[in-house]
Amino acid sequence: MAAMLEVEGLSVGYARKGLALDDVSLVVPTGGIVALLGANGAGKTTLIRTITGLLPMHNGRVAQGRVRFAGVDITGMAAHRLVRLGLAQVPEGRLIFKQLSVEENLQVGAAFLPRGKVAERLEAVFALFPRLRERRRQAAGLMSGGEQQMLALGRALIGGPRLLLVDELSLGLAPLIVEAIYQQLMSVGETLGTAMLIVEQNAHVALEYAQTAYILDRGRIAMSGDAATVGASSAIADAYLGLAGEVPADV
Ligand SMILES: Nc1ncnc2c1ncn2[C@@H]1O[C@H](COP(=O)(O)OP(=O)(O)O)[C@@H](O)[C@H]1O
Ligand SMILES: [Mg+2]
Repeated sequence: MAAMLEVEGLSVGYARKGLALDDVSLVVPTGGIVALLGANGAGKTTLIRTITGLLPMHNGRVAQGRVRFAGVDITGMAAHRLVRLGLAQVPEGRLIFKQLSVEENLQVGAAFLPRGKVAERLEAVFALFPRLRERRRQAAGLMSGGEQQMLALGRALIGGPRLLLVDELSLGLAPLIVEAIYQQLMSVGETLGTAMLIVEQNAHVALEYAQTAYILDRGRIAMSGDAATVGASSAIADAYLGLAGEVPADV
């Protein structure tokens, strides 16, 4: 069986800047959970944007390489087509609509579903996150950071994706909330069999849950392997330069 996601020799640049990604290759197996780690500015979000078709919105372009999703070449494919193929993301900064209610935010994620399916999928998300059901009529912006992140997750999952890309889930959240959300994410993965690429600056958290990990350092893959090996490697400290060998728990 083809891997769920294959990134092959990918180089990406932004207008008037050098390469943000340089010959990056990475694989997410079917149903697998993979961590992508690296310091601020390493290129993690650029890789997510490239995979999800949002790169042109940010004036970026693929200089070289390709991306395959379940065996299909999706390099440069538009974001709305990718969603229909079963690729979803929780973007950096969550990007929920703060003025809209919880339910309205979820409906945005369900916009491409056949109309008859929406109520059923909404129920499925409420079953996964009972907290969102309790708050369904509330303005999203009035919820706590953890609840907003849960909403972003629910919105990404409402279409029943085969691959979920998660960018900096832990950012700005207290450690206990981060653990709670990751545990929910993992149980979702087990229930639905969703493969995940988890982007984190917080290496500890991601390595706790992922099977394999990649370290991105200034646009290049510095190391990859099973999560325990990567976690024990000095490459991880090197990738967070200036931190005197300490892996940051909460950058
Ligand atoms: N829209 C953009 N235009 C120009 N440069 C960008 C843009 N977005 C990101 N970059 C640059 O690309 C590099 C990688 O950024 P990014 O992918 O956001 O890293 P990370 O998510 O790992 O923090 C950085 O040097 C950043 O300044
Ligand atoms: Mg980023």
